[in-house]
Amino acid sequence: MVASCIANLPSLSSSELPTSHRSAHEYHNFARPIVELPYTDWQFAAPDNSDLTDRLERGQVLCFPQLAFTLSEQEQALLGPELVGPKRKNISFNIDRDRINGVADPTNEAAVRALLKRYYQHTRNLVETLLPENRGKLLEPVNSLRVHEISQWQGKSSWRKDDIRLHVDAFPSRPIHGQRIIRVFHNINPHGTLRVWRVGEPFERLAERLLPRIKPYSSLSSSLQAALKITKSKRSHYDHLILGLHDAMKADTDYQANGQQWQLDFHPGTTWMAFSDQTPHAAMSGQYMLEQTFLLDVASQKNSELSPLRVLERLTGRALL
Ligand code: SIN
Ligand code: FE
Repeated sequence: MVASCIANLPSLSSSELPTSHRSAHEYHNFARPIVELPYTDWQFAAPDNSDLTDRLERGQVLCFPQLAFTLSEQEQALLGPELVGPKRKNISFNIDRDRINGVADPTNEAAVRALLKRYYQHTRNLVETLLPENRGKLLEPVNSLRVHEISQWQGKSSWRKDDIRLHVDAFPSRPIHGQRIIRVFHNINPHGTLRVWRVGEPFERLAERLLPRIKPYSSLSSSLQAALKITKSKRSHYDHLILGLHDAMKADTDYQANGQQWQLDFHPGTTWMAFSDQTPHAAMSGQYMLEQTFLLDVASQKNSELSPLRVLERLTGRALL
């Protein structure tokens, strides 16, 4: 049987069926939060007239259950929790600065760097081929190699850092002023272990419900945080709200347990991508994964009105940058 990314897609109850034109549109988008694509090779021709950019920008996950990123035997032999330094969650690599962080033993650095460089090249090519609207617009690439079991995260840090809870991604110390976060993931587990995720409801519905819980933005305290180097630059009103949503989601135990959500199973050899600042997601179990991040300006998007920045501006009735 060919592996699939979909674990369970329960049908919506009648109370969740659309009542207005707008919610009909949302319902349609999220009857299936994931799109499966059959590619088996990283080199392929761009599909004609594809709506994949629209689907990703609406918050769907694009999943490639047969697009394997192969590790050499030497690379596989490196995999183990001890590959990463004792105080770090992941190994990270910044291609533009050619800087790698977190490899415990310096003698492994060159091999890990080569692996992460290759992952960057493959994922960049994938995004630019599949979603040609983004060609030449992907910014600040950083990627990571995650070697710990997800269960090891639990209890080690605060609820705010607990990615087993559904959340949208927001960087607490690094404001991104509305830029989008595209992430491309790959399960490299050599023992057949799935990476299990949950994904949640459309961003706009979530934001509508949670916005009233977020405390008002203070330009003064954001300036102070930047002056004190708590943040790398001044947090904009947008950064305040997206971080507020991240926190409000994680703090809401009822939403975590009972909010609309789907389970996704990513087998080893599966690639998947999403706008992680928009698609609620939670990592439930698994070990060994590659992750590539790109930022994208809202103005570069095909449907910028679907971006968290524009959605939050619409809902609050004000400019947020
Ligand atoms: C996350 O982005 O929240 C975690 C994803 C993962 O490690 O599977
Ligand atoms: Fe996340």
